[in-house]
Amino acid sequence: MSERALGAYCYHAARGFLDHLLEELPERDRLDGELLTVSGPRQRVFWTRNVWLSPLLIEFSSVREAANKLRDIQRNWAPLPARLHRRAALIAEKLPPLPRRPRPFPFAVPDTPMGAFTLLDEGLMLASPSCSNPFPNGEFDFEEDHEGPPSRAYRKLWEALLLTGKVPRPGERCLDAGAAPGGWTWAMAGLGASVLAIDRAELEPRIAAMSGVETMKGDAFALLPETLGAVDWLLSDVICYPSALLAWVERWVASGLAKNIICTIKMQGADFDRATAARFAAIPGSRVVHLWHNRHELCFIRVEGDRGLGS
Ligand SMILES: C[S@@+](CC[C@H](N)C(=O)[O-])C[C@H]1O[C@@H](n2cnc3c(N)ncnc32)[C@H](O)[C@@H]1O
Repeated sequence: MSERALGAYCYHAARGFLDHLLEELPERDRLDGELLTVSGPRQRVFWTRNVWLSPLLIEFSSVREAANKLRDIQRNWAPLPARLHRRAALIAEKLPPLPRRPRPFPFAVPDTPMGAFTLLDEGLMLASPSCSNPFPNGEFDFEEDHEGPPSRAYRKLWEALLLTGKVPRPGERCLDAGAAPGGWTWAMAGLGASVLAIDRAELEPRIAAMSGVETMKGDAFALLPETLGAVDWLLSDVICYPSALLAWVERWVASGLAKNIICTIKMQGADFDRATAARFAAIPGSRVVHLWHNRHELCFIRVEGDRGLGS
């Protein structure tokens, strides 16, 4: 054997959440660092940063041969050091460099395949030429704005928009629930949307004063489609139990009045409310992912024409 398809998928855990992924995938063939290999069809799990879609076992006798074998398959390979870190780094040095510099929002996500590899022993690697995430090991950074936004939460909204391939058009109507201090509102208004920002707390005054921004103080979940009417973007970053958010989202989905929905499902304490996450994921036309810029939370996406990147 020099190269052999594995007939499995490899699931790379979201940063800091290996325990949740182990809970989601109790039956596995291998565990290499944060990478779980599970044979059979692809499993729908939430706590991944990347899924290896076509893993191969590749034998090699030298660093040079390993790099040549990978390069013969394709250009882009992200090393995932689980063991033999030094040897993996030497192989990576012989491969073409990966684009790692921070990028301004929005940017065109490269559609060239992004592979990943890890060493199992001195002469054997696990490598997948195709992965679910277009970025190396799911990692990337935006060029940050250190003056405009009042919090760094806008990066997860930008990431969700980037992965769907859709940004709001000027004048589109947006409801931003749990908006304070105003990072998401800043991002949406900056793209030209007209934003109704609601929170129990005050938005930062300079965000509230942005053109196209209207603020409201109170309980976001009291804003229902029957009273508010149609919105192009329904957003929520409210800190609440996942089930409370689900009940609100289900009302909006049933009404047909929210064209696009992006919400953060915040997990409470150390727990992972798997049953509620699964109910979100079962909403037709939606997906639930852990974004690179998410913490102990998942992102619910239901966007018309979603390109589905990162899943
Ligand atoms: C993580 S912060 C939002 C950060 C914001 N997206 C940003 O980019 O700056 C969560 C917000 O949810 C608000 N919140 C909690 N429960 C709420 C509710 N029922 N209705 C409205 N806002 C609520 C909190 O006051 C807090 O400002």
